[in-house]
Amino acid sequence: MIVILFGPPGAGKGTQAQRLCDSLGLCKLSTGDLLRAEAASGSDLGRRVQTIMARGELVSDDIMIAMIRKKIAEERANNRGVVLDGFPRTIAQAEALDAMLDEEDLGVDAVIEMKVDDDTLVERIAGRYACAACGAGYHDSFKKPATANVCDQCGGTEFVRRADDSRETVRTRLDAYNRQTAPLLPYYREKGVLFSVDGMQSIDAVESQIQNVLKAEVKGLT
Ligand code: AP5
Repeated sequence: MIVILFGPPGAGKGTQAQRLCDSLGLCKLSTGDLLRAEAASGSDLGRRVQTIMARGELVSDDIMIAMIRKKIAEERANNRGVVLDGFPRTIAQAEALDAMLDEEDLGVDAVIEMKVDDDTLVERIAGRYACAACGAGYHDSFKKPATANVCDQCGGTEFVRRADDSRETVRTRLDAYNRQTAPLLPYYREKGVLFSVDGMQSIDAVESQIQNVLKAEVKGLT
């Protein structure tokens, strides 16, 4: 099964991708995570993508397509279904993905669009931070650690914020989404694989909506 979680920055793609991995045994491929790992490695490529991401702009299609091709091949070699978080983000990426899957007689089973209004997106992103040790996620308003400045999960006391999570950069990211990524919606609608969920609901409620779509639309899932 190949599922794409689709939506603007902060829509909840990463959160729900992890839940699909846990519930359905899918493998999560997050291009944002892959790029952040490359940046942390200090490689030449990592330094280049770090600058682009910090500005809130999209990394080039060539880099992204090569990166995802390698990862999909690895996961498909293990015969695992894949949930894509953050890819594709342009028509060129979507076409490259279709060509890759076509080589294996596969196609995209479902594209789940998560709809959230812009003010909520900015609020979610500008307030989020994570434990530096274990990566557990928190939010200034919605989810503080039970004890101030101590991670609930591992007891860590250092926290980090993404460099692209400032209010100003979020606006640039939203602009990139509206200009370069939203045009993919008609592309997938025409193929009959686009489904929308209300991303303004609670995390549990959004998960239920997604599970219901997949059960109704993907063969072999009940
Ligand atoms: P990426 O890491 O993909 O970031 P993004 O798309 O901007 O999305 P986020 O990770 O910010 O949000 P999300 O939708 O995953 O939401 P989350 O679950 O975290 O990309 C970063 C950058 O990398 C891009 O700007 C670009 O430069 C580059 N890049 C990546 N892929 C690329 C590609 N294919 N091509 C070119 N460049 C690429 O949730 C957000 C917050 O909200 C969390 O705090 C969460 O707890 C909370 N939350 C989630 N759901 C709910 C809910 N229902 N109710 C309340 N709070 C919620």
